[in-house]
Amino acid sequence: MNQKNLHDVVLRRAGEGDVGAVIELARRIWTVHYPSIIGLTQIEYMLARMYAPAAILEDITRRGVCYELAEAGGDAVGFSAFGSGPAPGEMKLHKLYILPENQGAGLGRKLLLNAADWGAANAFQTIILAVNKKNQQAFTAYCRYGFSIREEVVVDIGGGFVMDDYIMTCPISSLLLTSSIV
Ligand SMILES: CC(C)(COP(=O)(O)OP(=O)(O)OC[C@H]1O[C@@H](n2cnc3c(N)ncnc32)[C@H](O)[C@@H]1OP(=O)(O)O)[C@@H](O)C(=O)NCCC(=O)NCCS
Repeated sequence: MNQKNLHDVVLRRAGEGDVGAVIELARRIWTVHYPSIIGLTQIEYMLARMYAPAAILEDITRRGVCYELAEAGGDAVGFSAFGSGPAPGEMKLHKLYILPENQGAGLGRKLLLNAADWGAANAFQTIILAVNKKNQQAFTAYCRYGFSIREEVVVDIGGGFVMDDYIMTCPISSLLLTSSIV
């Protein structure tokens, strides 16, 4: 797929019929982006759990997680997932993924601001997320968006694997303020 023009991209809330599209995007992005970060075995382990059809369906139908698809010319090129966070006043950005050929064109920012709009409309003050400490590209992007590190965590996810992450946060008000001046 060719590089998409940001202006051609539309966002829409994913429903139960979009589970397959989310899973396909995740596999295409993860298998290119994460081999040097967590290795292929951990990629397959995590995809099988976090991106099982039943897991995504449960997110959408029972856990109140919103999935937003970015589409260009009818093709899905990225997605986000977000919902209530772990603490009062906090929302969590669970997922933010753009196809490799469409990265760096402002799509991640567009999806993030869409999530921030949802957060503001639902009276959340802060966005929280987790990013792998070796995921330099995403870490750089989150710093550019205005996030800062709150803490470091190592989470045992079974199978002999851990998620070695930074927890980052950003005030929603500053994100939305930035969006009006970029
Ligand atoms: C991280 C990600 C969501 C960012 O979305 P994006 O659309 O590519 O990024 P944007 O165009 O919004 O750019 C945001 C900032 O990221 C940085 N950035 C974007 N692409 C980059 C790249 N290829 N290399 C290094 N930095 C990059 C730039 O600093 C940019 O800020 P600027 O335009 O103000 O200079 C996307 O690159 C992605 O899906 N990466 C792979 C999967 C991933 O790691 N997801 C996050 C999991 S926590």
